[in-house]
Amino acid sequence: MPRLVSHPDEVKIISRRFGQGAAEIDRYIELDGYKAAQAAIEKGPEWIIAEMKASGLRGRGGAGFPTGMKWSFVPKQSEKPKYVLVNGDESEPGTCKDHLIFLHDPHAVIEGTLIAGLAIGAKMGFIYLRGEYRYLLKIMEKAVADAYAKGFLGKNIFGSGIDFEVVTQTGAGAYEVGEESALMESLEGKRGVPRIKPPFPAVVGLYGGPTVINNAETIATAPHILLMGGEAYAKVGTERNGGTRLFGISGHVERPGVYELPMGFNLKRAIYEVAGGIPGGKKLKAVVPGGSSTPVLLPEEIDVGLDFDQMAKAGTMLGSGGVVVIDESVCMVEFALRTIKFYQHESCGWCIPCREGTDWLKKSITRLHAGGAVDKDIDNIRYLAENMMGRTFCPLGDAAAMPTIGFVKKFRHEFEEHLNGKGCPYEHQREAVLV
Ligand code: NAI
Repeated sequence: MPRLVSHPDEVKIISRRFGQGAAEIDRYIELDGYKAAQAAIEKGPEWIIAEMKASGLRGRGGAGFPTGMKWSFVPKQSEKPKYVLVNGDESEPGTCKDHLIFLHDPHAVIEGTLIAGLAIGAKMGFIYLRGEYRYLLKIMEKAVADAYAKGFLGKNIFGSGIDFEVVTQTGAGAYEVGEESALMESLEGKRGVPRIKPPFPAVVGLYGGPTVINNAETIATAPHILLMGGEAYAKVGTERNGGTRLFGISGHVERPGVYELPMGFNLKRAIYEVAGGIPGGKKLKAVVPGGSSTPVLLPEEIDVGLDFDQMAKAGTMLGSGGVVVIDESVCMVEFALRTIKFYQHESCGWCIPCREGTDWLKKSITRLHAGGAVDKDIDNIRYLAENMMGRTFCPLGDAAAMPTIGFVKKFRHEFEEHLNGKGCPYEHQREAVLV
């Protein structure tokens, strides 16, 4: 479980109620809870969407799509009911931020869901947690029940004449259902496999109705934006990247944890100053900057701002905000192997390039790591990964291919060291240490 950490460089907006007992509704109310929802009821959908657009908030799940714009895409008139769906299926390796929100500030998720519902004219919201977060479901269920008891959910919320229901649900432990269309299939009680897009959920979503689906952090940020004002929130971040974000810094750092930093915060400073640098005087070898699907960076590439645009310029992605720090003791072929094993295991098997591609990559890298490969196998691994890119129903195929291409490109020398029966040089080091 990620522990609560703190650093003076943090700007606490989304995390300001962590550790404050805000899972209890009365404490949440004391800490300005449900004020934003009341303002949203009074001022109406256009005001909410204008504030969200002004905030520059971009989807915190990983793709960075502008939230205000997504909400504005939902048609005003619809024959089918509209829905809000909170994606709490946080499963990207290296990512453990939404978990803290559910644990410490569940009402922020509920209030954000309500605000999104008011913005698009929905009468119902679903909060979907990953299967492994079943124990957090109890916290969410209690928070939802308390909100009903106060009249903040249900019929005639806040005495406004508006009705809004919230339902909680968990998955069964499949990474794939974090993909929004697979999540909707799962919620509808079907096998969790992706749908073809377009149509996007904003137009045809849950049960065929227009649906706003947002990551839990994105949704939980909405009340803060309405309280502080969209422009003030935007100013905390960089151009086109408003506000702050929860970054989970893990791996070889002195102080791993989830830190709330302004968008654009320098990655090198985040590792060396905020998270305390690499333990034991070891050298930094690599950084996976935004969850396991984002291409790896070399130490000389980390002097870069943590926002969607600067990371794209650096040839990688901000992704889900899970920064994984790797020191010199790690074999990058083994790291690549662990990564691809995850994607091979989690591929839903719905489309061939992903199902077969991840399996072949796993087999090829396993063999290479054990010393059973020759020079041309390295190119074959890269060729295979490149041919998966853009050819799958959902981004899982790309998520497996992108880091693989990055590892081969930037650590080719380490792949070469394993060839022609040599096997893993790091394995021998480890054995020497054990002896
Ligand atoms: P995407 O770029 O296809 O879509 C992002 C969002 O914008 C979606 O909600 C989509 O419906 C919406 N959208 C895009 N174009 C639209 C349009 N024209 N009209 C209306 N809505 C539109 O990306 P996707 O597939 O949702 O997410 C991929 C990202 O997810 C990856 O970059 C990765 O970082 C992240 N990820 C996060 C995980 C986690 O545990 N947090 C797990 C796995 C991946």
